Amino acid sequence: MAMRFRFTLPKQFSFVSPRPSLFATVTNPKCVSGLPLPTLALDVNPGQIKKSERGLQFEVGESFFRPESAIGRDLGVLAAALHKKSTGRLRVLDAMCGCGVRSLRYLVQSEADFVWANDANDECRKTILTNLGVEGRFSDEGKRRWVVTHSDARRVLVESYLHREFFDFIDVDSFGSDSSFLRPAFEAVTLGGLVYVTSTDGYSSGGHRPYHSLASYGAYVRPVPYSNEIGLRMLIGGAVRDAAALGYSVSPLFSYYSYHGPVFRVLLRVNRGKLLQKHYGFITYCNKCGNSHGFSWDKLGLICCPCGNREVSKSLVVCGPLWTGPLHDADYVTDMLNLAKQWGWACTGTKGTEDADLEKLLKLIIDESDPQLTFGYIKLDEVASRAKVNSPPLETMIGILRKGGFAACRSHIALNAIKTNCLMTMLVQIAAELQKQ
Ligand SMILES: C[S@@+](CC[C@H](N)C(=O)[O-])C[C@H]1O[C@@H](n2cnc3c(N)ncnc32)[C@H](O)[C@@H]1O
Ligand SMILES: [Zn+2]
Repeated sequence: MAMRFRFTLPKQFSFVSPRPSLFATVTNPKCVSGLPLPTLALDVNPGQIKKSERGLQFEVGESFFRPESAIGRDLGVLAAALHKKSTGRLRVLDAMCGCGVRSLRYLVQSEADFVWANDANDECRKTILTNLGVEGRFSDEGKRRWVVTHSDARRVLVESYLHREFFDFIDVDSFGSDSSFLRPAFEAVTLGGLVYVTSTDGYSSGGHRPYHSLASYGAYVRPVPYSNEIGLRMLIGGAVRDAAALGYSVSPLFSYYSYHGPVFRVLLRVNRGKLLQKHYGFITYCNKCGNSHGFSWDKLGLICCPCGNREVSKSLVVCGPLWTGPLHDADYVTDMLNLAKQWGWACTGTKGTEDADLEKLLKLIIDESDPQLTFGYIKLDEVASRAKVNSPPLETMIGILRKGGFAACRSHIALNAIKTNCLMTMLVQIAAELQKQ
């Protein structure tokens, strides 16, 4: 594994704000988490009102900031902390940092040795410097703990690779279906390191822009009822393909869909290796019978739905190539949940709080990791409509399926939906039987 511990920065990056920070001289460097910073007359500007996330205070200024993304940030911070605990080191690149809240959280909560906070928009500079300013710039040994730059994310990634200054954890919180940073991120991360990526392109995952998804992720995506899972598989598939071109194999540790945005987030582990042939293929959904199937590349010419007597059918929707393997690693997510409990981020909340939401999400993700479950989720409204009955109660359906030997659980993506290895045809029968009772 290529790693260097001495860190030198490319000359063109400056660390000192060209404009002095308004708060730099008044913030108390010991005022780290939870404690309010001194209130200044300047704080009356709404952009400078302090926000708080998991006990850390920060301001957002004019930057792009979504409070709803807090869970996505929690997940990144937990994963980065696990990396530090297991490897003893943590160099983070927050490549599209906005106001720098993640950078601050990686520094304080994940105990990163070093965080590079970058955002192309240099108007965020004062805000980022203010937020990171509560943490000392240098360690006790005199090593730089954080820097702030304003370059294109790809440039930072490529230059880090060229200087062989690799990162253990790279967070690219991008907009839309920008996938151009995937390859440079895989080159700039250490082997065994983590890349946390995002897509917010709900049109592509919904199958409304198949040539757009083809350009970004190499996947021709068409509308299916579980399009938000397809969005995650499209993003992972694109990453798998780009990594393969460089001789790396990537696998998802967790995949998270959030309807705010929408946002598709995936944490990928990068290793040397080949494309996982087993998990990179095509997914079909049949509008006639409602069943889904996976097809590998060697079955391309044979794609059809069993309901159609092996005939080519217009009812069949084919998407791909996509990631067809597991969306999460159950052991890894269990470690995240345990750490969240240890930190008091799970189990302590009552319904509707951030703690309860995080715990619920991690538990759902662990349930979804059952290897018997295949891709897709089934909306119970679709089952009801096919069975011409009322929507069956979700927990009852799951109970019946498990009793019958099927794998079944809720979906973290859709509220009234289940993940199961039972075919739609049988679900329709079960719903019809339930209605009669
Ligand atoms: C979704 S926001 C980041 C939010 C932030 N990570 C958070 O959690 O609050 C995306 C940010 O990326 C920045 N950005 C957009 N394109 C960029 C690029 N090519 N390189 C670096 N930053 C970019 C934008 O200025 C914006 O602040
Ligand atoms: Zn069919």
